[in-house]
Amino acid sequence: MAKVKSVYICSSCGAKFLRWQGICPECGEAGTITETVESTAPNAGAKAASRALTGFAGSSGSGITNLSAVDLTSRPRLSSGFTEFDRVLGGGIVAGSVVLIGGNPGAGKSTLLLQTVGRLCQNHKVLYVTGEESLQQVALRAARLQIQSNTIRIAAETSIDAICDMASVEKPEVLIVDSIQVMHVSGIESAPGSVSQVREGAAALTQFAKRTGIAVFMVGHVTKDGTLAGPKILEHCVDCSVILEAGTDMRYRTLRCQKNRFGAVNEIGVFAMTDVGLKEVKNPSAIFLNRQESVAPGSLAMVTWEGTRPLLVELQALCDICLYSNPRRLTLGTDSNRLSMLLSVLHRHADFSLSDQDVFVNIVGGVKVEDTSADVPLALALLSSFNNRPIDKGTIAFGEIGLTGEIRPVPYGQERISEAVKQGFVRIVVPYDNAPRKKVQGVEIIPVKRVSDLLSINN
Ligand code: TYD
Ligand code: MG
Repeated sequence: MAKVKSVYICSSCGAKFLRWQGICPECGEAGTITETVESTAPNAGAKAASRALTGFAGSSGSGITNLSAVDLTSRPRLSSGFTEFDRVLGGGIVAGSVVLIGGNPGAGKSTLLLQTVGRLCQNHKVLYVTGEESLQQVALRAARLQIQSNTIRIAAETSIDAICDMASVEKPEVLIVDSIQVMHVSGIESAPGSVSQVREGAAALTQFAKRTGIAVFMVGHVTKDGTLAGPKILEHCVDCSVILEAGTDMRYRTLRCQKNRFGAVNEIGVFAMTDVGLKEVKNPSAIFLNRQESVAPGSLAMVTWEGTRPLLVELQALCDICLYSNPRRLTLGTDSNRLSMLLSVLHRHADFSLSDQDVFVNIVGGVKVEDTSADVPLALALLSSFNNRPIDKGTIAFGEIGLTGEIRPVPYGQERISEAVKQGFVRIVVPYDNAPRKKVQGVEIIPVKRVSDLLSINN
């Protein structure tokens, strides 16, 4: 018989304690420890998954085998029907994988998954389990999205045990669970959405997916600061974690991969939200680089690398005389520590000081750039803003700046140059080691070696 006891669980890392504490000793987060009533029934979620496993070949065999003997041919990737979504997943849906889709309310997670189901069910068996919406609501949405719904199998259910049982009878290729926060596992006393329910529910679904070969998509909510609600172990146990974000311009949604066991991370897919659901944006550079005819000082286009493809975005910098003792350094879309480092490098190695200036940096379109190739364009934009001299609209740049003032090459130099040429840029500032050996017709390539070389580019 299961005993019920009170435990204190950190909602950030999932660590358990016997008494309440203000700061979690495990992860250092403050105010994340809350009281939870927990049943001591061992591994309730795991039991739910294994109960439902009868009837699947290989479910009993947890024996040891040779890695080379593992059959790979029988598991081709399924296409979600969206090329953008497939690319973010690393080339399609892997059988037996668990994908967590996070995002703010209204980001379009349910819409994306329903559209995916609509496309998948043409050739594959899919089960859509909704815990948040009623069957009528989903049917209404499907009608509005003009989805052929006669082959879509759907259930409204919030019990993980029942879902596993249902799926083992139905035997779909893909199972969709919307959302993990409303699901509950029997044997755990705490409320749905609590740390222990989310953790056990996700663990049960993961185990079920691994042993049956059904690909599982789980929707997860995010908290106010943009991280997935629930313990971090939720992200550890899934194979792929993607976030659907609405940018500052609410028309577009970016699907960003944060973790992927089967493909590149930092991959993004761009969608436009229309009155008939999400539509893929095949050429995102075109929307992020929608610039005015005459460009102002401080604006420059740059090529970043997102996952497996180049992305062209506009970078803006503003220098303004500081009226207080502490100049402000503010960045949106890039790392502010990197900006501070760059300002020091410019000062020490190019004799260009902004110590009496407030500096603001923004990446247009709400794009987040983590690629170090933003250093050179950032330095050029700062120079342009400070000197109040606009950079020609046909100019684009990329390159990393080192602490000793050298300009370092970045990966995929050739592909970045080709993409810039394709988008009509005629003047490309590149690190010396990334300069192509052959001349590109009609394009001026400006190779730079040291940060001091940047001073003369816009003169
Ligand atoms: P939804 O998928 O319900 O979001 P989530 O599941 O992430 O909470 O998306 C709802 C939002 O999408 C809502 O703001 C309205 C918008 N939307 C459209 O603009 N067009 C449509 O065709 C649909 C279905 C939704
Ligand atoms: Mg939803």
